[in-house]
Amino acid sequence: METMTLANGLAIPAVGTGTNTYGKEGNRYHGELNGDFSALRSAIKAGYRLIDTAISYRNESGVGTTILESGIPRKEFYIITKIPAEDAYIGSKDLVEQTVMKSLENLKTDYIDLYLIHHPIKDKEKLKHTWEVLESFVDKGQIKSIGVSNFTIEMLEAVHNFARIQPAVNQIQSNPHTWNHELIDYLLKTNIVPVAWGPVSKVTPEQIDKLDKIAENYGKNWVQVLLRYQIQRGVVVIPKSHTEEHQLSNLELFDFDLTKEDQFVIESL
Ligand SMILES: NC(=O)c1ccc[n+]([C@@H]2O[C@H](COP(=O)([O-])OP(=O)(O)OC[C@H]3O[C@@H](n4cnc5c(N)ncnc54)[C@H](OP(=O)(O)O)[C@@H]3O)[C@@H](O)[C@H]2O)c1
Repeated sequence: METMTLANGLAIPAVGTGTNTYGKEGNRYHGELNGDFSALRSAIKAGYRLIDTAISYRNESGVGTTILESGIPRKEFYIITKIPAEDAYIGSKDLVEQTVMKSLENLKTDYIDLYLIHHPIKDKEKLKHTWEVLESFVDKGQIKSIGVSNFTIEMLEAVHNFARIQPAVNQIQSNPHTWNHELIDYLLKTNIVPVAWGPVSKVTPEQIDKLDKIAENYGKNWVQVLLRYQIQRGVVVIPKSHTEEHQLSNLELFDFDLTKEDQFVIESL
C-alpha cells in the first residue's frame, strides 16, 4: 500500500475504507446497530488497513472487535476516529479525556493512529482545551497523530495560533459536487494532508460519462480514475463500499498515472 507522509514524519496509507454504515441495519447511516461487520471483514480481506470510524457512527466497538478478530497485527492497521464537537464530549478537559479513553477501550487498542475533531468547535476556549487534551495523549503515545475534520482555512488558522502540535490532516468532503479545491491547495501548501470523505459520492451521470471516457484509456473504471486523481495530487481517499468487487477495485489505483490533460478534465468536472 502506498503511503503519504504527515508533517510529523509518520506515514498514512493513501487509501482506506470508510465505515459510517457498517454494523447497521439496511447499511444506513442512521440504521439500528445490528452487529453485522461482514463488510469490514471483507474490506480487511481485500487489503484495507486504514479504517476510518468516528464516535458519531456508533460503531467504534464493532470496528475494534472486527480488527482484533482479523488476527492481523495491530501495527499493520491505521485507525482513525473522531470526537464529536458537542458539549457532552468536549465541554470540559475531563470530558475530552474520558472520550479519548472510551475510544481506546471501544477500539480495543493501546493507541489510535489519528484522532480528529469531527466538526469545527465554534467556542475558542473549548477548541483550545480539546486540542490541548489531544496533544497530551500524543505526549503519552496513546494517540500518534491529531487532526481536524470539516475545518475551513480560517478555523485552521485559529488552531495554528495556539497549537503546540499542528494538525496533521483535515478530513473534508471532496468529490465532483464539492471539490474543495481552494481548501485542498491551502492544505497541501501548509503541510496538512487532506483526506477526502465521500470521494465516490454525488457524481452525476454526465460526469460518470466523462470519467468513463478517461478510464477507458487506462483500462480502469470511473471510480478508479476519480480516486487516482485525488491520490495523484496528494489527497488520501477513504471510499466506503458494501460490495466486495468495489472494495477490491477501489484498491487498484497504483498501476497507472493520469496525464496532466486528464487531471485537468477531472478537476474541471
Ligand atoms: N469527516 C466527516 O464529516 C465525514 C462525512 C462523511 C463520511 N465520512 C467518512 O468517509 C467515508 C466515505 O464516505 P461515504 O461513505 O459517505 O461515501 P463514498 O465512499 O463516497 O460513497 C459510498 C457509495 O459509493 C458506492 N461505491 C463505492 N465504490 C464503488 C465502486 N467502485 N463502484 C460503484 N459504486 C461504488 C458505494 O456503493 P456499494 O456499497 O454498492 O459499493 C456507496 O453507495 C465514510 O464511510 C466515513 O468513514 C466522513
